[in-house]
Amino acid sequence: MKKIPTTLVTQTELRRRLCAEAKRRSGLVLPYAPLEIYVDPSNICDLRCTFCPQSNWGSRERGFMSMDLYRRILDEVAILKPKQLKLFGFGESLLHRQLIEMITLAEQRGISVIIHTNAKRLNEEMAHKLLASNLSELCFSFDTADRELYNRMRIRSDFDLVLENIHRFLRIKKEKGLTKPKIFLQEIVPFGPGLLCENTPAYRQLFEGFDVHLDVRFLHSFAGGSNESSFPSLNLTGTSPCHEIYHRLVITFDGKVHACCLDPEGHNIIGDLQQGDTITSSWNSPAMQRLRYLTNAGRMADILPCNQCHMLHRPQKKSRRFFRKIPAALLWWWYTKDLAPPTIPSP
Ligand SMILES: C[S@@+](CC[C@H](N)C(=O)[O-])C[C@H]1O[C@@H](n2cnc3c(N)ncnc32)[C@H](O)[C@@H]1O
Ligand code: SF4
Repeated sequence: MKKIPTTLVTQTELRRRLCAEAKRRSGLVLPYAPLEIYVDPSNICDLRCTFCPQSNWGSRERGFMSMDLYRRILDEVAILKPKQLKLFGFGESLLHRQLIEMITLAEQRGISVIIHTNAKRLNEEMAHKLLASNLSELCFSFDTADRELYNRMRIRSDFDLVLENIHRFLRIKKEKGLTKPKIFLQEIVPFGPGLLCENTPAYRQLFEGFDVHLDVRFLHSFAGGSNESSFPSLNLTGTSPCHEIYHRLVITFDGKVHACCLDPEGHNIIGDLQQGDTITSSWNSPAMQRLRYLTNAGRMADILPCNQCHMLHRPQKKSRRFFRKIPAALLWWWYTKDLAPPTIPSP
């Protein structure tokens, strides 16, 4: 039997090409490392947004990640070199008491960190600490300029408090003349296949004069995990292979590795870092191969939560220029020539 390579490709643009080729070929064992790794410091949240699984929580245990586990994760992340370490997931990262230490440790090792936050806890002290942490990117989940709508969507939050927190943060950053973190503001619009959208003028006006990037996201059903009932029913036949399982994975507070960032319940756990698995072994574990196999075979109806996922219908982004001239098939052949043929685990 051929030897399975222990080193995954970690060069970002090359990984993008291999990722596209892997999806085209319905690959099960991937020769490249995940492009993005989510590390969720905590799945606890202070809000209960109507569109988020936090308002519809099942039986999954909640907690905070220990620094011991986090340091072990960083050791492997430093080798795998994802494009980004996403230091958030299913909860609110600002609730973790050692968040600033977590960011600083990663950035010191050259790992670029991004956080999404609801900004409710972003008081002046926290603003100064975050700005001193060397964080690369920060995204404020501030969904709309409509106060009433915001307060209806973000249960337990407060439009005026959060807007003041964000403005204060942006003012301090500007006064200090800092370029980091790069700031994103995320407006959410209703889901619609093929829908094009841009930030509303009222939303843009709220942040005029600040160095921010406005981002629009589609509201999705969180693979059926949200309480919202306004999503169209799904016809899963003919959908493209799932992007997520070729692209990224999520590590929760307790070291469990989830195949998908829309699966807070952990229907598809592909590894456990507390039980001797690694990120690398989880990425191509039998559970992950089985998931890729079933989605490629169009058997989403057999898998939770994939059988309720709207993300399979979202518009696809085009890949970037680098390495475009080398045929992806050649790269794929080169990097997989030593891979052992996968054994497909039975469903
Ligand atoms: C689950 S939250 C966790 C981070 C943090 N608590 C926050 O709200 O930013 C991660 C991101 O998912 C977004 N999100 C949550 N539910 C969503 C949904 N149903 N559709 C689209 N985005 C959603 C949030 O706005 C946020 O940007
Ligand atoms: S979207 Fe974020 S802030 Fe809102 S409930 Fe979910 S995790 Fe909490």
